[in-house]
Amino acid sequence: MKSSASQHGLRRVAAALVTVCVSACLPVWAATAVPMPRLIGAHGRYELQVDGKPYLILGAQVNNSSNYPAMLPEVWPAIADVDANTVVMPIAWEQIEPHPGRFDFSFLDLFLKQAREHHVHAILLWFATWKNGAPGYAPAWVKLDNRRFPRIVNPQGQPVNSLSPLAQTTLNADRTAFVALMRHLKAVDPEHTVIMVQVENETGTWGCVRDYSAQADRLFDGPVPGRLLRGLHLRPGTWRQVFGPKAGEFFHAWNIGRFVDKVAAAGKAVYPLPMYVNAALRPPFHPGPPITYESGGPTSDALPVWKVAAPAINVIGPDIYMPQSRRYFKVLQQYHLADNPLFVSETGNARLYARYLFAALGQQAIGFSPFGIDYTGYSNFPLGARRVTARTLGPLALEYRLIEPMDSLLARLSFAGRVRAVAEPDDGHAQIIKLGRWQARVSYNMPMFGNTPYARPLPGPPEGGALIARLGPNEFLVTAVHARVSFELARPRPGEFMIFNRVVQGTYRHGVWKFLRIWNGDQTDWGLNFTAIPQVLHVHLATY
Ligand code: DGJ
Repeated sequence: MKSSASQHGLRRVAAALVTVCVSACLPVWAATAVPMPRLIGAHGRYELQVDGKPYLILGAQVNNSSNYPAMLPEVWPAIADVDANTVVMPIAWEQIEPHPGRFDFSFLDLFLKQAREHHVHAILLWFATWKNGAPGYAPAWVKLDNRRFPRIVNPQGQPVNSLSPLAQTTLNADRTAFVALMRHLKAVDPEHTVIMVQVENETGTWGCVRDYSAQADRLFDGPVPGRLLRGLHLRPGTWRQVFGPKAGEFFHAWNIGRFVDKVAAAGKAVYPLPMYVNAALRPPFHPGPPITYESGGPTSDALPVWKVAAPAINVIGPDIYMPQSRRYFKVLQQYHLADNPLFVSETGNARLYARYLFAALGQQAIGFSPFGIDYTGYSNFPLGARRVTARTLGPLALEYRLIEPMDSLLARLSFAGRVRAVAEPDDGHAQIIKLGRWQARVSYNMPMFGNTPYARPLPGPPEGGALIARLGPNEFLVTAVHARVSFELARPRPGEFMIFNRVVQGTYRHGVWKFLRIWNGDQTDWGLNFTAIPQVLHVHLATY
């Protein structure tokens, strides 16, 4: 927190001074305008802008039931321990509208006040019609009234604990509450502490492919909507004719996507913050059939359907609880698309997940947000750590502390296509990063001196990662943890050899580079060796 606290603090003091200085001679709106958070895109790359500047979400999502005033004292110390710049907090429909039409935003108001005091930005999660596919967070007047707010029914005619996306009553009620939330947020957050909103949570249905009610069957036997056909460049037909074995799943995805889009669009009409959804994942390899995953959510196969169904949604993020590097890397690729910025909306809080921040940055991620970051005593092991303590959160804290002072710079360089990064694979094999004329070799489990790897088995889980950003043709920003980074010519001509011209260690403070020392001798003879100390280098390469 320290660096981010002072950075945010200074920014706010400066903003306050500006406000004081100009308020005497300018209209009120001019003195208070902080630019809206926005997502810009070009050439299939994206940049999130917060306070008018490029922003990288170094996020921390609290546990599911930490959205009450009494829990906040257990939240802030964990956010500070990992040095997150963004806290991710649920806002439950049952909490803001316990009785129809009577709204209570007192928790949101308190949370925003405390987030500002702790100098972090925030993301809100709208837990409403869907929370992990079920209506648990809908108010009692919704989730107990199956007649007005019908659940889907399975092929045997039994109700499933997942609300039907086809019910206009449910859409109207959810949308009305969400609009009230966004209207309130707009009124109480002129400084844009809240930078994005997640609409619903892990939509879809577990254990049932789609709604099999009479109304749903009628629609399912009818034609696929023209808008979806045009969006996917498909010929007309019924759902079965057009999508074959995927028909039921895509029908459900379309209906949920349309529902979510209408909620998001109505919210944006009153307050246009960037909005996203998160996905419970389909296995990246051998996904079935049978469907073992949540049907109808934005799973990798249904992403094109969701993109057409929900244009008001800016980002579809994967919730990655797969510790194996091969699976993790594959999911990052699936969700990093020309029409979808990569945001790791959730991931495990166990030590071995921290390094995947590097893998995400290597896929041009706009953010990364592990789940279950608070000291309320809950642990979602085996998805995450067995116990959540400052010690178990150490690797994440190290990486956030390393990246945070240069987050805006990295976001800008990433948008310009200049950032490459890798995380240590499970088997610790070395990786090559191509850099045009040059290439870097990232190796793991090496001592700092010499070329003999540490003997196996190694004591802990893999924790290495490295990031290289191109600053000029022969100049790179290099940082890493638990890794060795060596440079070589990609295609050396005979008699041509790479040499370090200068390797400068420095620090970034508020994005400004400060010289510390030159690395030479042992510090460069065996590659550039990084440990658990946050270190940043500017590397100038040359040949002799
Ligand atoms: C993913 C969900 O989105 C979270 O809210 C939480 O339930 C985790 N799974 C499990 O801890």
